[in-house]
Amino acid sequence: MRKLLIGTMLASSLVGYAATSFAAGGSVEVLHWWTSGGEAAALDVLKKKLESQGITWKDMPVAGGGGEQAMTALRARVTAGDPPTAVQALGFDITDWAKQGVVGDLGEVADKEGWDKVIPTALQNFAKYDGKWIAAPVNVHSTNWVWISKKALDAAGGKEPTNWDEFVAMLDKMKANGITPLAHGGQAWQDATLFDAVVLGLGTDFYKAAFIDLDPAALGGDKMVEAFDRMKKLRSYVDDDFSGRDWNLASAMVIQGKAGAQMMGDWAKGEFLKAGQKPGTDFVCIRFPGTQGAVTFNSDMFMMFKVGDDKKAAQLQMASDIESPDFQSSFNVVKGSVPARTDVPDTAFDDCGKKGIKDLAEANSSGKLFGSMAHGYAVPAAIKNAIYDVVTRHFNGDVDSKEAAKELVDAVAAAKG
Ligand code: GAL
Repeated sequence: MRKLLIGTMLASSLVGYAATSFAAGGSVEVLHWWTSGGEAAALDVLKKKLESQGITWKDMPVAGGGGEQAMTALRARVTAGDPPTAVQALGFDITDWAKQGVVGDLGEVADKEGWDKVIPTALQNFAKYDGKWIAAPVNVHSTNWVWISKKALDAAGGKEPTNWDEFVAMLDKMKANGITPLAHGGQAWQDATLFDAVVLGLGTDFYKAAFIDLDPAALGGDKMVEAFDRMKKLRSYVDDDFSGRDWNLASAMVIQGKAGAQMMGDWAKGEFLKAGQKPGTDFVCIRFPGTQGAVTFNSDMFMMFKVGDDKKAAQLQMASDIESPDFQSSFNVVKGSVPARTDVPDTAFDDCGKKGIKDLAEANSSGKLFGSMAHGYAVPAAIKNAIYDVVTRHFNGDVDSKEAAKELVDAVAAAKG
């Protein structure tokens, strides 16, 4: 399960792709947390595709970036014996639900359409359980990005930072220029998203040892103390009103030029695009300085639940639509993510999207592709939440860096049980 190597990422030709038709009509109830402007615009692409096939879309949005609230809502529905047709979910959460025996089986559509050959192994590890397809991967996001206002960057000297020291120097200049250097929302998952990048910035071996292997020496060692010190430094560039702020409002601060940069996954690009901004002109996307060549990924998947015979055809149709190459392109262009299949051309993507596709392929072939801790692809929810807790308390100044590294070891050990 921890083997996160993707299969071949080289784009091959689309010759041979045949769309399948399972349903004309019926309905799907879809639970998701895509409620920001950019997210809703992307979801609309899927909604419209299904509606064009006569399938009714019953929307069940549960706001809350990262999906924690959505997972709580899902628990209530499953406990009541009434799960939705399809649920947006991430990584180890999918495996956890599969273990409960409540998920459906997409074998029929996956076999017909040859998903095994075009969906990377790193995604299959989560989209399948016990050898069976249970979820349809929509995209691949990654968390080690920085979104910078072009105007603020130019005012700070115009040079894109390539390492930690240059990043700090850029933020200092932005501060001197009278704007909030770092737009951030104080929610545990957002703090953890920063932590993904900061830990990766201290070395891919370190990221792997800490978050994939859960090695106590890495979790509690000097490098982890340094990671926490860097988090404290980042905190010094955040404004005082950050507590509880939603991630898309932090993006808006950069879009409006009130803040210089945001460290966030590439769903942030969806907000910039929705606001009519263009990469290279209005904003700049870079990998978090020091993490070039490496990628921490998360893939949104629609996990399918066991449904009655009357709903099965529409469920299979939805899965088929999601994996169609055309949809993979048109959806991900809007969402900010990159396709979950390896054979989708990058033609329709902007420069950040093209870079995302290239980076993913390169990170995969060089062994520098890792599941995102913050977004459920490195460790199961219980351990992830234990890490969240320490990271957030430290970010809010409740514990110092040495103590935080020590607590990390204990919290992970306790969560592992
Ligand atoms: C992530 C998810 C993204 C985006 C983000 C903020 O976990 O993968 O698609 O929705 O949360 O809501």
